Amino acid sequence: ENSSEEETFKILVTHPEVPQEALDLMSRGCKLIMCESLPPNRTEILQKAKGVHGMFWGSHIPLDKEVLDVAGPQLKSISTMSAGIDYVDVEELKKRKIPLGHTPIVLSDAVADLAMGLMLSAARRFHEGRTKIDSSTWENYHIEWMWGQDIRDSTVGFFGFGSIGQAIAKRLKGFDIERVLYTTRRPIDKKLEKQFNAQKVEFHELLAQSDFLFIAAPLTPETEGIFNSTAFPKMKKTAVLINIARGPIVNQDDLYTALKTNQIFSAGIDVMYPEPLPANDKLLTLPNIVITPHIGSATKRTRTDMATIAAHNVLRGLVGEPMLSPAY
Ligand code: DGY
Repeated sequence: ENSSEEETFKILVTHPEVPQEALDLMSRGCKLIMCESLPPNRTEILQKAKGVHGMFWGSHIPLDKEVLDVAGPQLKSISTMSAGIDYVDVEELKKRKIPLGHTPIVLSDAVADLAMGLMLSAARRFHEGRTKIDSSTWENYHIEWMWGQDIRDSTVGFFGFGSIGQAIAKRLKGFDIERVLYTTRRPIDKKLEKQFNAQKVEFHELLAQSDFLFIAAPLTPETEGIFNSTAFPKMKKTAVLINIARGPIVNQDDLYTALKTNQIFSAGIDVMYPEPLPANDKLLTLPNIVITPHIGSATKRTRTDMATIAAHNVLRGLVGEPMLSPAY
């Protein structure tokens, strides 16, 4: 227990709707400075950051030098409530020796569930089917009407084969797929390769051979825009692309063209740019794309787990203990 006012750690909580479980954990022994704006607002964060020791970063607002400067040199612990940390200036935090936590792993099952939904709905044309109903243009007297792609015996590719990719591969085991190909920055355990019948390949092979291709990698300077007008023509015309990672890994204009001109069969995406996507975006005019509004981790259990882990990360960082899930 901290006795005097000076010794009490102050934690800035940048989102008013952080699950109570996490707030309860942090408020035992620390003073919480709550942000109240919705959507979360940078100006309010900057106003309240001065003098805090910890930050519970509950949105995708850029966490950069300006925020750290405003907070001051006593700042010693930050956690995001997300797996992706592309909006964080990691180099700047490292330079200042401020530990950063994030919340991977706990969301992998929820994101993988959504990825399966996108895969099935893009393969079997759910969105287009609904538009046929709305416009009374059923033509099911044609034998070939609304034919989609089979999943059985397919080759499934993973651009990134970490915790989320592996959770998707685990679900696919029930679908009698032929094999798994993947590219990754990090080496994968041989045991895992065996377990998933997975083989590491070069990016161009991943493009050329995948019937279903999941993007499950972080957004970095290396991955930004890598799915573009050079990549799409290398894919199968029957291929289905699923993106549950970050929008800018895909060049969205090029994706539009690839879908419009049937360079690939269809796409299912939970991430895009900008988010929110304007209602008049040309992607929304295509029949062969299924789009969800970045809801991969949006379940009560998953978001609560993410918040709890983020809270533990912040608390551990404050007392100089290793975080539960450090970002570096
Ligand atoms: C993540 O965890 O990175 C998701 O995009 C939700 O924030």
